[in-house]
Amino acid sequence: MANHVALLLLLLLSLQLTASFSQQPGDDPDLPTLLKIKEQFGEQAALASWQPGTDHCNWAYAYCNQYRRVVAIFLQNVNITSTIPPAIGDLDQLHTISIDNIPGLHGPIPDTFGKLSRLSIFNIMRTSVSGSLPASLSRTNLTSVSFFGNMLTGRIPMSLQDLPHLTYFDASNNRLVGRIPPRLVSNGTRDSPLGLTLTNNRLTGPIPRTYARERYFMNFRVANNMLTGDAAFLFGRRKTVSDVDLSGNRLNFNLTGVVMPKNLLFLNMSRNRIYGGVPASLAQLKWLVTLDLSYNRLCGEIPTGGNMGRFKAEAYEHNKCLCGTPLPTC
Ligand SMILES: *[C@@H]1O[C@H](CO)[C@@H](O)[C@H](O)[C@H]1NC(C)=O
Ligand SMILES: *[C@@H]1O[C@H](CO)[C@@H](O)[C@H](O)[C@H]1NC(C)=O
Ligand SMILES: *[C@@H]1O[C@H](CO)[C@@H](O)[C@H](O)[C@H]1NC(C)=O
Ligand SMILES: *[C@@H]1O[C@H](CO)[C@@H](O)[C@H](O)[C@H]1NC(C)=O
Ligand SMILES: *[C@@H]1O[C@H](CO)[C@@H](O)[C@H](O)[C@H]1NC(C)=O
Repeated sequence: MANHVALLLLLLLSLQLTASFSQQPGDDPDLPTLLKIKEQFGEQAALASWQPGTDHCNWAYAYCNQYRRVVAIFLQNVNITSTIPPAIGDLDQLHTISIDNIPGLHGPIPDTFGKLSRLSIFNIMRTSVSGSLPASLSRTNLTSVSFFGNMLTGRIPMSLQDLPHLTYFDASNNRLVGRIPPRLVSNGTRDSPLGLTLTNNRLTGPIPRTYARERYFMNFRVANNMLTGDAAFLFGRRKTVSDVDLSGNRLNFNLTGVVMPKNLLFLNMSRNRIYGGVPASLAQLKWLVTLDLSYNRLCGEIPTGGNMGRFKAEAYEHNKCLCGTPLPTC
């Protein structure tokens, strides 16, 4: 998340620089669209700088490239009470939309956003935006998405699997239902590992086995849903994932033989129906700092060595018959 914000700020900075060097006059095709957006927002003190007759490339929140086309909208921490203007879908050069911490913003994400064929980074976070994610977004060019902390409902559209470059998807803290699409994020590489965060929703069904094929995951967080079945396939010696949160689901699999990826830092499997024993491979991890296996059906001796000494009894409480440090001896 922090990386993400830094990246956006960098982008913002470079856009401002290019904007200030641009002098070319032109017919400014985005100007009427911005005025329409202002009209759709209605009376908002926050948009006071959006005045006809002034240079729209100097207006707050909208950023132009050297051709005076609007390529980014950053709308953060402002007091706006409105629905999202559908006219934003007419800013056809938009690459980034980042909306954050605007509790007064409500209503659905307009279908018209599907017209934004260059849209790559799309964040709507901490708003009151509701309704379902438009399937039309599959026609954009999304690479990184965060819908953290809204009131979104419905299923995650299967059509989003058609997005060839989507590597980071966060829709945590909403009210999404249905299954996780099997290839929502895909084709991760070492330089661009995948991130999937769906924590705190109402998702059901198994975790799709297709994710077993993806070697380059950075994080996989699906805590507090109603997911069932196996998740052992997410692990393995050759995987790169460092952050796995499966807690608060109904996952049901044998943990004994699971081989943990060597870069694992954070592992929470608490509150599932996981059985078998604590895998020996956990004790070989150099970087593991968080471990929570509590409230499962695990049994047998806890392995020692590596970082295992860091973890207190709470990490293992409420299991079937675990024993050994930090619990009583077997
Ligand atoms: C937000 O704007 C509305 C009017 O648009 C105003 O009534 C309200 O006081 C503003 N709130 C803050 C915290 O500035
Ligand atoms: C879509 O995104 C990819 C990867 O970021 C980029 O290489 C490509 O040029 C983009 N296409 C369009 C139409 O923006
Ligand atoms: C992933 O890469 C494969 C092979 O390069 C490609 O066929 C496939 O379309 C890509 N996945 C997506 C979702 O585009
Ligand atoms: C693990 O997840 C559970 C449920 O989401 C949470 O209550 C607990 O605090 C987490 N444990 C750690 C160590 O973060
Ligand atoms: C779990 O798997 C191990 C082998 O990895 C096996 O020995 C054990 O019997 C299994 N436990 C259960 C409860 O099925």
